[in-house]
Amino acid sequence: MRIEPFELERWQSIWENCVELNIAESGVEPLSVRELIADQKDLERVLDARLGYPQTNGSEELRSRIAALYPGANSANVLVTCGGAEANYLITWALTEPGDDVIFTQPNYMQVAGLARAFGANVKLLWLREELGWTPNTDELDHMVTGKTRLIAICNPNNPTGAVLSEGAMQAICAAAEKCGAWILADEVYRGAEFSGETTPTFWGRYERVLCTAGLSKAYGLPGLRTGWLVGPPDMVAKLWGYHDYTSISPTMLTDKLASQVLEPAQHRKLIERTRKILREHYPIVSEWLGSHKDELTHTPPRAGAIAWIGLRGTKASTAVAEDLRAKQGVLLVPGEQFAMPGYLRIGFGGNAAQLKKALGRIDEWFFESKHEGKASRNA
Ligand SMILES: Cc1ncc(COP(=O)(O)O)c(C=O)c1O
Repeated sequence: MRIEPFELERWQSIWENCVELNIAESGVEPLSVRELIADQKDLERVLDARLGYPQTNGSEELRSRIAALYPGANSANVLVTCGGAEANYLITWALTEPGDDVIFTQPNYMQVAGLARAFGANVKLLWLREELGWTPNTDELDHMVTGKTRLIAICNPNNPTGAVLSEGAMQAICAAAEKCGAWILADEVYRGAEFSGETTPTFWGRYERVLCTAGLSKAYGLPGLRTGWLVGPPDMVAKLWGYHDYTSISPTMLTDKLASQVLEPAQHRKLIERTRKILREHYPIVSEWLGSHKDELTHTPPRAGAIAWIGLRGTKASTAVAEDLRAKQGVLLVPGEQFAMPGYLRIGFGGNAAQLKKALGRIDEWFFESKHEGKASRNA
């Protein structure tokens, strides 16, 4: 089987640990283990954990705590995975056969589209529209679904735009899926990271063939735990558990215990509040900076996630811009081509605020130098 390169993940894997200023991340500043286990009792519990195999689909305690995030769900609706990435993988692997149609909203985290093509599916793109606040025209979706449509893949809140779907759009997506019996894969890994403090409604419970994926990487600031999950109807979850036997088998004993602690209701509230505070404090740094670049940049503010999706007015060549910024200014950001949208850049603002300001200052220097060299011209 041939796979296409996952450009975004390769770009970050290669450069994130060797650039001076990394603003390519989509999450918030990660917590240390010490910050996470502030309570002595919790620490003892972790230290006493025997490092055997845990329950391979996730402990009952962890699955129950995850289920509590989805109205009406219980532990039988949950499979714990290695990151949201494994959850997306298992679903796409289990559900797509050669010749199936997969409808993929774009721009989006490119994993499901890349995998579906590798599994032989025909990927049809449903573009998010900037004039609709980076949401899709659901009439287009209605015309796209056919008897061959097996999966509709959504990312809500969206990476890279930070947009959140309206109730109406969510209902229209469910109605389109119902028309042809397709599954909805709703990647909700940014759910919880809203500026407003109002948690994004989940697709869970709106239609019987919904599979939601998420994890602790983005809204909780814990990507290094590699804890993800999927939530779905019990028979489908049991089937996907069988696929999980062929991938990572189980979470680790330590991550199962730590993730349970993270999702204990009071701790959960604390972590989500921390993330939202970071977003509210850091986004103004980006928006003020954008205000001084109106001639060069366009932008629709995000509603969730520590990411700003920014259009370049003068050029489509965002990879060239990103390469230049990395090589000359030591700044790593994400070029739009990695989301199949040349002419855009993604900036992450969830990390250290001083580093963010420094990185934006370096981009200013780059703009200044480029103008003098004539690089930011239409021909770049
Ligand atoms: C939309 C989306 N889904 C899934 C992932 C994978 O994240 P993880 O495996 O850390 O949960 C990412 C990572 O950036 C993402 O942006």
